[in-house]
Amino acid sequence: MVRTVSVLGAALALLAPATACLLPQSPGPNPSAPPATPLDEPKLARGINLGNALDAPSEGAWGVVLAEGDFSRIRDAGFDHVRLPVRFSAHASASPPYSIDDDFFRRVDWAIAHALANGLAIVVDMHHYEELTSDPDLHADRFVGLWKQIAERYRAAPEAVGFELLNEPHDKLTADKWNALLARTLGVVRATNPTRTVIVEGVDWASATSLRDSLRVPDDPALVASFHMYQPILFTHQGAAWMNPEFRTTGVRFPGPPPVPLTPVETARSVAWVREWFERYNRAPAEINPSGNRTIVEQLDIAKAFAESHRMRVYMGEFGAIDHADMASRAAWTRMTRQEAERRGFGWAYWDDGGGFKAYDRQLGAWVPELLAALLR
Ligand code: BGC
Repeated sequence: MVRTVSVLGAALALLAPATACLLPQSPGPNPSAPPATPLDEPKLARGINLGNALDAPSEGAWGVVLAEGDFSRIRDAGFDHVRLPVRFSAHASASPPYSIDDDFFRRVDWAIAHALANGLAIVVDMHHYEELTSDPDLHADRFVGLWKQIAERYRAAPEAVGFELLNEPHDKLTADKWNALLARTLGVVRATNPTRTVIVEGVDWASATSLRDSLRVPDDPALVASFHMYQPILFTHQGAAWMNPEFRTTGVRFPGPPPVPLTPVETARSVAWVREWFERYNRAPAEINPSGNRTIVEQLDIAKAFAESHRMRVYMGEFGAIDHADMASRAAWTRMTRQEAERRGFGWAYWDDGGGFKAYDRQLGAWVPELLAALLR
């Protein structure tokens, strides 16, 4: 307890003075206390997404409110960082200078301080800026304006605080538009944060293929390229309420083929690639089954080829399987994906902690043991 308090003090003191005064009161740094882990090196090796909290339209709207104990619980489990999805766009004015609401900023300060106090690195991730992806020309200036404020506020934060410019660019934010906006935004961030870790990902929802095919990365030694890994998506997103109707077939296993063929729902049969996927899933032997190891290896090899050709650090910022898939399949997929990522030298963050892909059951107040083991053992 004493140690936690003193490290919190150190973390607060390391944040910008303007920020620190907004943070919870603490007794101040204790120079004799050992830091929990070095705060100056964001390894981003093994992390978890604190999803569905600050990325919801308002915190709690999606059932997750962050608590102080989340950070120590995550640290004690063995993770070294958290990724914090934040919907800044819902808490800022619509016109210049696009001021971010101060209470909301203080909540982000709070999360950063508690991550650092627990020896966790933290990725502050701009999440769910849907207005930007549906109308990039209208929202580009606002996006840059938001980052200007975020970068200024955390300019003196320890290097263990990283920035992720935008979660899963997609829709009308085409590769050309995103590459240009990314470069422009990075310039603004670098004016105040010349050496901070900044994470960038490609269009098509941060797919590995978009890294390979379309992401243009500015020459910057502190950039990390990210991708999200949800393949096979008919397994990881089976029955997800926010997906199109062709994703409604549940009971999809990993690895395939299933012992008894699965009949996809009507809405799935009417979409050619989905229908064909299920035909192969039901019949193809394990080695070449689309719900099998080969799919994972293919995706991760694409990201690895990018890492090698660009000599860049690559981070798998999201991966996970929805909680109504069967547990044995979720655990097998999670373990395989995590191990293959580590084999290629990628850090990762599981999606998510307490939301729909949960590794932690908030109702039970307990980790999902099979998933925790798949992630960390
Ligand atoms: C989205 C979540 C979603 C997850 C998996 C995240 O980037 O923000 O809402 O549950 O991806 O699809």
